[in-house]
Amino acid sequence: MNMDENTDIQYSWFTKKFSALAGLDLAHYKCQQMKRRIKSYMQAKGASGFADFLKMLENNPVTVVDFKNFLTINVSYFFRDTDKWDEMSNNHVPALLSRKNTLAVWSAGCSIGCEPYTFAIMFEEMRKKHPLLKYSIFATDVDLEAVAAAKAGMYAGDALKSVRPELIRKYFTADPGGKHKINGSIANNIKFSLLDLHKGRFEGKYDIIACRNVVIYFEENIKYELYGKFHSALNPGGILFLGGSEIIFKSEELGFKNISMCFYQKV
Ligand SMILES: C[S@@+](CC[C@H](N)C(=O)[O-])C[C@H]1O[C@@H](n2cnc3c(N)ncnc32)[C@H](O)[C@@H]1O
Repeated sequence: MNMDENTDIQYSWFTKKFSALAGLDLAHYKCQQMKRRIKSYMQAKGASGFADFLKMLENNPVTVVDFKNFLTINVSYFFRDTDKWDEMSNNHVPALLSRKNTLAVWSAGCSIGCEPYTFAIMFEEMRKKHPLLKYSIFATDVDLEAVAAAKAGMYAGDALKSVRPELIRKYFTADPGGKHKINGSIANNIKFSLLDLHKGRFEGKYDIIACRNVVIYFEENIKYELYGKFHSALNPGGILFLGGSEIIFKSEELGFKNISMCFYQKV
């Protein structure tokens, strides 16, 4: 690869062209990490530099989709960080239910659907103790393929590694190929949609917003702005649920109270 091409100017030229081509604005993502990731992808594809790579993308829509998937990394699995889901169902949801019976949830950056389906399974299990509990789940991602996979709701072993066997038996149907399809009774409670968190206003009011392992490559100011928008989209007392390594610095300035690791409450 011609390393001279890997300059800030070349990179910013590429991000503009790529945004026009694929609709994903790389300027919102951390420059150094993105450059590193893009470089490794370009090397794997044998591109000699940004210009050569762009030509490749322009001539091959399949590569564009593959590259977008590579950039947005949609690894996910059910009950990711099991202890946080236990905390959610033992503490935070009962606290919300002490004020109302119907909860609105948004899984922002839902990838292939494991997160919103985990919410639905958790709520179904909570019904034993909270028979009046009702819920609606809105699940969104920027990646078209991920949203399609989420809607299909078909999972292989790895996605189910943290799901208790009795829950797999209860909420999934095994197919002869060894995959598991989420049952319709669960899927019907979730509305999936394509949404870029960098664009537009957020509609609706939610009691819980989960945005986990999504902002990892976002620029700090973009993250902060996004958390502010989540704050506006939450009902008072609502919960923002983040990934294991994600912290909102000066969260109180945004109007959040950090109630425990990964959980922020709108005050
Ligand atoms: C690692 S997955 C996280 C999935 C799930 N939240 C979890 O924790 O298992 C990150 C997801 O964020 C999505 N994502 C990245 N940038 C995004 C953006 N600008 N708008 C919406 N989703 C985005 C990716 O497409 C990917 O599916």
